[in-house]
Amino acid sequence: MAVLEATRAQLAAELTEARRQSEILFSVLRPSYLYERPISERHRVIFYIGHLDAFDYIQICREGLGRQSSEPALDALFQAGIDPDSENLPADLPSDWPSLERTTSYVRQARRAVDHALDDAPVDSVYMALEHRLMHLETLAYMWHNFGHEAKIAPAGYDAILPSRTTPANSWRKVPAGEVTLGKPRDGSFGWDNEYNEHVLDVPAFSIQKYKITNGDYLRFVRDGASLPHFWTEREGRLYYRGMFEEIPLPLDWPVYVTQREAASYAAWAGKALPTEQQFQRAAYGADGRLYPWGNSAPAGDAGNFDFKRWDPESVSETPCGKSAYGVHQLVGNGWEWTSTVFAPFDGFQAAPSYPGYSANFFDGQHYVIKGGSPRTAARLLRRSFRNWFRPEYPYVYGAFRCVES
Ligand SMILES: [Fe+2]
Repeated sequence: MAVLEATRAQLAAELTEARRQSEILFSVLRPSYLYERPISERHRVIFYIGHLDAFDYIQICREGLGRQSSEPALDALFQAGIDPDSENLPADLPSDWPSLERTTSYVRQARRAVDHALDDAPVDSVYMALEHRLMHLETLAYMWHNFGHEAKIAPAGYDAILPSRTTPANSWRKVPAGEVTLGKPRDGSFGWDNEYNEHVLDVPAFSIQKYKITNGDYLRFVRDGASLPHFWTEREGRLYYRGMFEEIPLPLDWPVYVTQREAASYAAWAGKALPTEQQFQRAAYGADGRLYPWGNSAPAGDAGNFDFKRWDPESVSETPCGKSAYGVHQLVGNGWEWTSTVFAPFDGFQAAPSYPGYSANFFDGQHYVIKGGSPRTAARLLRRSFRNWFRPEYPYVYGAFRCVES
């Protein structure tokens, strides 16, 4: 019982911190942009202000404890948004949405109900709400990245970017043949449906690049005819990087953020391949059961660029103490890493009854596994069994890569 109470107190503290991070994120946008839609296939910002707390309320109070909502219409609106009439892009108008005052009062009420329910709710419903919020903190950062800089105000503590203009030399690290563990055991700790079951596989020997592919590396591919990545822009013959709060001359030593298709094309152009999910996992965690590439200590800023440490990447040669047992750097943080593995269930997959579509809606052969984490990935989501997935041409994610050879 004492352990469970400690867990709940810890969870409540994490939820408070995640709410604080969401306040920071929404306060970065100037108020006149809160009814805008920076990515045409996503909702307007106002939806997400209500969505995070609607999800918490629905999972914890309604699904978890069977409570009756006093705001069922707003729960439904902020759970799913306004349906597009067909397969077209959303066509709702700002005037279709509740006012900011109405939305924030709904949020306050949902939070009060959630806070009162935390001691009694099924603990998995609280984990689900917390991790859902944390994942949105990252996907919302992708969205904000697509607002012009005039829409945003850098928060207190933001450090202007000081990139280097040299490309660090990359090299190859050998990973011997051996076992790798994928997935997560059903041991009572929280995981999403796609993380189960745990299983062990044999991986043949391969070599993998020490660093992620940089903007400087990718520039040679662009000079050979590839198109510019979404995060780059060209003006008067010069290349710039579109950072979250400023545009800077292309930082050659930062990881390049690209689509899975661009990453695979680069690898083919270089005569190499993208790692499979199994190869990534083996390069990062080896066979000794470690929790993180660097060992078992909890994620800290000197081990990588994650957990909201920065709003943009940093050099691929930073945080060397986060390297894996095989000497591979930044496998976690500073940009997710694309794999060549199509997102599919592990043996033993079971959808969660309270969120059945979380993964199952994406087992369509049209999504690829991406592993690791970005500057905007919360520490809690850096566990080794955590999987993320996107379409191969979705350009907005903080998706980096490196190559392997067999
Ligand atoms: Fe959501």
